[in-house]
Amino acid sequence: MRKKVTIVGAGNVGATAAQRIHELGYADVVLVDIVEDLPQGKALDMLESGPVVGSDALITGSNGYEETADSDLVIITAGIARRPGMSRDDLLLTNMRIIGSVTSEVVKHSPNTLIMVVSNPLDAMCHHAYEVAGFPKHRVFGMAGVLDTARFRTFIAQELDVSVEDVQAYVLGGHGDDMVPLVRYTTAGGIPISDLLPKETVDGLVQRARQGGGEIVALLKAGSAYYAPSAAITQMTESILLDKKRILPACTLLEGEYGINSLSMGVPVKLGANGVEQVIEIKLTDEEQAMLDRSAASVQELVDVMHKNQAENG
Ligand code: NAI
Ligand code: 2OP
Repeated sequence: MRKKVTIVGAGNVGATAAQRIHELGYADVVLVDIVEDLPQGKALDMLESGPVVGSDALITGSNGYEETADSDLVIITAGIARRPGMSRDDLLLTNMRIIGSVTSEVVKHSPNTLIMVVSNPLDAMCHHAYEVAGFPKHRVFGMAGVLDTARFRTFIAQELDVSVEDVQAYVLGGHGDDMVPLVRYTTAGGIPISDLLPKETVDGLVQRARQGGGEIVALLKAGSAYYAPSAAITQMTESILLDKKRILPACTLLEGEYGINSLSMGVPVKLGANGVEQVIEIKLTDEEQAMLDRSAASVQELVDVMHKNQAENG
């Protein structure tokens, strides 16, 4: 029997991830959205691509959660983008409510599932989903680091004129602007990039990767990136469904690792059939630890705003 993957949010990221996962052929996919007929239409269109792409996997769309029952993995991409006049906190609290209600439905119908959060602000939404789900921490995690490192790896490969496959990188911390690159562990063909590129060049590439999401938004004008994000989601999905136990950066609840307590943040993890099977700890330099602490403080600020709102509204 094929595994079952539910994707909540049939927008750009959710639908593109659904397409990539359906095309792998070894998981049935359920696409959920609140917009009537949208997930049904997109799912049927993808299903009809099966004979051409060689996928026998099923893909269905729904506006409810009955069809998602007993999923092995649920990927949450639901949310809204910041609108004109909306403050950062308004967006945070709106998406918090969406992620909270989605997570409650998911848990009700798939009590044994893993949950991968994608909606932004990523680290805060992942933390909220963990708190709402009440699952053990290894079963709720977030996608951001694979995307951030993919951007970093792309820019390094271009700079060195080498294959992207030979460039490896790790990041810690929050998504995007808060990304803490582990330059010491960033290599091309196993050689640290600090031996291959001047420091100023590396700094420039780090900065471009941090602002990679904004660079795409500025070009698209409406909406944000989804091709690279959906590729990142699919790599994590594959590591889980095939129990590959890949070491990938992902957002997970930290309980003392890297000196951070009770906060969800991006770190390298071992990702397998049980979700986050291990947090990989690396000894940091003082400078890296200071950057990570700053990143943790920004995530904590968002979590505090959410907790305050929950306390005020019950
Ligand atoms: P989108 O606007 O294209 O799609 C969002 C979808 O969520 C819409 O179809 C909407 O109808 C749906 N939705 C809203 N409320 C819902 C609910 N309660 N239940 C079910 N569906 C609901 O946005 P896009 O581009 O797909 O991005 C989705 C999210 O992913 C955003 O929060 C975005 O910022 C985030 N993102 C995160 C990345 C990461 O690295 N973690 C990378 C790229 C995007
Ligand atoms: C990105 O980094 C918007 O988080 C999204 O592209």
